[in-house]
Amino acid sequence: MSEIKQHEIENLFWLTLKDGNVRLATINLEPGNKVYTERLVTIQNVEYRTFDPFKSKLGAAIFQKMQAFPFSKNSKILYLGAASGTTISHISDIIGNEGLIYSVEFSPRSMRDLVTVAERRKNIIPVHADARFPEEYSMIVPMVDIIYEDVAQPSQAEILNSNVQTYLKKGGYFFLAVKARSIDVTKDPKIIYNEVKNELQSYGLNILEVIDLEPYEKDHVMIVGQKQ
Ligand SMILES: C[S@@+](CC[C@H](N)C(=O)[O-])C[C@H]1O[C@@H](n2cnc3c(N)ncnc32)[C@H](O)[C@@H]1O
Repeated sequence: MSEIKQHEIENLFWLTLKDGNVRLATINLEPGNKVYTERLVTIQNVEYRTFDPFKSKLGAAIFQKMQAFPFSKNSKILYLGAASGTTISHISDIIGNEGLIYSVEFSPRSMRDLVTVAERRKNIIPVHADARFPEEYSMIVPMVDIIYEDVAQPSQAEILNSNVQTYLKKGGYFFLAVKARSIDVTKDPKIIYNEVKNELQSYGLNILEVIDLEPYEKDHVMIVGQKQ
């Protein structure tokens, strides 16, 4: 029989499957519906979705013992680089119907998939825009508690800073998934991480932790900070 146990972090769970394997999980806000290849398991009338750290950098950061986890019921989040909504769907489960995720994506194809997910999940607001130009979505996005960015672009630190300055509340948290190979394939990833960290600090941003995402994502870190 499958078993469920509360994770150390609120609204996350450890799900033991029938075969004995243990998975991270969230409660499915939209029971019966999958968003990617996750498994759905019902225990005592509650449906859980497995949260795959190989498919989500947020999932990977949780497995790597990230300290800051401000996502909670009713959080307002600006998410840059939404893709088809894999990670967003778990944040959507965690924050529930009182929260909102303004989900920015510039690829029309990914946007179509995201809109399908958002039709069922009312806390996801798809925003078809380019994150390099935060003023483009000022009519839609308010001040938020969290900014999460995963755009895999060389200018990612600059994009983060302009969005933090425009939309992040004082005391709010930011998360930046850094893919070394999107910046320079020839350089040692450690040098790249330091350069990104230094660039963020040069904008006056306060960094709390830098989490290596291996073995889930090769040559990636998650940088976490807080606006002062
Ligand atoms: C690595 S994927 C994101 C995966 C997603 N965060 C997840 O975990 O489910 C990067 C996404 O960022 C989008 N992207 C890249 N640059 C962007 C920009 N300037 N504005 C908006 N979206 C961007 C890409 O189209 C792509 O879908």
